[in-house]
Amino acid sequence: MGSYSVGLQRLSVLSIQNVVFLRRPKRPLSAVVTSVPGYATIKSNQTIRSCSSTNAFVVADDEKYGNKQVVSITPRLYDYILANIREPEILRQLREETASMRGSQMQVSPDQAQLLAMLVQILGAERCIELGVYTGYSSLAIALALPESGLLVACERDAKCLEVAKKYYARANVSHKVHVKHGLAADILKSLILTGEACSYDFAFVDAEKRMNQEYYELLLQLVRVGGVIVIDNVLWHGKVADPLVNDAKTASIRNFNQRLMEDQRVSISMVPIGDGITICRKR
Ligand SMILES: C[S@@+](CC[C@H](N)C(=O)[O-])C[C@H]1O[C@@H](n2cnc3c(N)ncnc32)[C@H](O)[C@@H]1O
Repeated sequence: MGSYSVGLQRLSVLSIQNVVFLRRPKRPLSAVVTSVPGYATIKSNQTIRSCSSTNAFVVADDEKYGNKQVVSITPRLYDYILANIREPEILRQLREETASMRGSQMQVSPDQAQLLAMLVQILGAERCIELGVYTGYSSLAIALALPESGLLVACERDAKCLEVAKKYYARANVSHKVHVKHGLAADILKSLILTGEACSYDFAFVDAEKRMNQEYYELLLQLVRVGGVIVIDNVLWHGKVADPLVNDAKTASIRNFNQRLMEDQRVSISMVPIGDGITICRKR
């Protein structure tokens, strides 16, 4: 079941076959409770829930943005996307081995991994950092995209997870590219700065402790060169960041981090709704 949060604006709903349009009304509504059977319900908190896995898509249609149509991913559409991904065989094996493990939902999705690999290739990256390896899916995707001379510093606090990751680096013949660092991500970044590695990295992927994102980001800004890229995962936090009724510590911290990124002129940014949402930051 998908959840589509639309902030504080009051919206009306028009349904045309499998498409739901969300439109801001010309006049304010006194009560906002609109139900479209099988498709969407707008409650007083303006959260829209898609109720059917057969929905083709939901379209946000707001005059303020020139009535742009925005596709939301349904299970069927996501299946289609997954069917159009070139996932290397070794990544598929790792994903399948991890599927039965505790925390497997933490792994980046295959479409995210493909985008990370492409960013590494577009940048021509040689030196990368990953925070939060888990069993190695995203780090392996990055390592596979690196040239033979490339380096990925892979930081993870859980030794057991790292054993799985290292097994797959070896199977994929990329162990020579991956420097595994077992420890706390922030400590590892600080030691890299202390050993004179500032401004020497091309690309970083942040997927560790979410409440530490601001600290990771500040440290990574020192380690990445001008023109280098920092990608932060989980910036949409299952949609909770846009729901004013959700204010737990983790959601608040991700929301706050997103706001600070928005205002940070040291980087160019692009928030991309892939997986659980990523923000791509390019150091100016
Ligand atoms: C979301 S998972 C990473 C998933 C991984 N990127 C993948 O695609 O498979 C987060 C990982 O970060 C690790 N982690 C959490 N806090 C950390 C910290 N402070 N330092 C290092 N690793 C941390 C966790 O042990 C967990 O394995």
